[in-house]
Amino acid sequence: MSDCKKGNILIVGSGLVGRSWAMVFAGAGYRVTLYDTVQQQVTSAIENIRKQLNELERTGMLRGTFKPEKQMLLISTCSNLAEAVEGAIHIQECVPENLDLKRKVFQELDDLMNDDVILSSSTSCLLPSKLFSGLKHVKQCIVSHPVNPTYYVPLVELVPHPETHPAVLEQTYALMKAIGQTPVKLNKEIDGFVLNRIQFAIIGESWRLVNDGVLSPEDVDLVMSAGLGMRYAFMGPFETIHLNAEGLKNYFERYDVCMKRVLSSFGPVPEFSGEVMEKINQDSGLRLTVEILFERLSQARVTSNLNRQCLKGSHLIQKTSMHKEDGETRV
Ligand code: NAI
Repeated sequence: MSDCKKGNILIVGSGLVGRSWAMVFAGAGYRVTLYDTVQQQVTSAIENIRKQLNELERTGMLRGTFKPEKQMLLISTCSNLAEAVEGAIHIQECVPENLDLKRKVFQELDDLMNDDVILSSSTSCLLPSKLFSGLKHVKQCIVSHPVNPTYYVPLVELVPHPETHPAVLEQTYALMKAIGQTPVKLNKEIDGFVLNRIQFAIIGESWRLVNDGVLSPEDVDLVMSAGLGMRYAFMGPFETIHLNAEGLKNYFERYDVCMKRVLSSFGPVPEFSGEVMEKINQDSGLRLTVEILFERLSQARVTSNLNRQCLKGSHLIQKTSMHKEDGETRV
């Protein structure tokens, strides 16, 4: 396309995540090549992406400024990996979460890639040191872990291998920003990366609360959906506690004894099986229907208004100068 000046992105693996990445990159005006070892996957990916883009336009949620047809023109397919790698500025690997398979794919790519392209993995939890060690181009390798559904949830965790060149981290960060995602840079690898470490901490304590007979599974879900989640939908934990007292330091001065006592009472890692599993499954398994989800989504605007009201009443906003000169609250 004459008005597309952006480089070529190669997506290796055109399943759920590969398709989402393709849509995100094309939405931002990048040319995308889809490669998969299963031809049928590529064919259905193209059909599926076309359908999704049209639906997104119909509902006003299409990303970027190009119409769906124009975005589709940016997406092509290739069944020859060597040809697909040629001219790519960024390779996003999206094959199944299997270390041996991913290493085999990286080995093939390592032999084909030049010294400039970035090789980025979508892995959910495999460490870069396991994935990339021994590759000739290890300095050009990085994990860019998206969150599902990637088209709507912008976070991407960038996790370097210990030998990843700092410029590769910076370049990937800039690319993610350019396509409208929200990257965070991990300074070093850690098991579970960050999103899942926080998520697993919540799941573990939720499980223990049910196991110890403190709360029903349904009420645990309410604690999140009607409580913590309302804050965390748009504020992080540090921002939240900053507003929950007279600033962050004051929060810790007030609550550190309580926090340490509670944190030290957390039980061991659960087995995630047995009677508790049955109880949670029975209570929550079929509760969340699509209809309920849609109803909750339609209330999202009300919730967001409520959040603004809550924030206006928060400690910090009342006590400090969080007002613009014209008196309007900043949040
Ligand atoms: P998927 O199973 O939907 O798609 C994998 C695709 O890779 C298939 O189309 C398959 O034919 C293709 N494939 C298999 N071997 C290949 C090879 N040697 N070369 C090229 N293509 C090959 O998997 P999904 O869910 O898209 O996951 C991909 C990666 O993204 C995994 O590492 C997963 O952990 C990660 N991820 C998944 C998320 C999710 O919610 N599904 C969220 C974030 C990351």
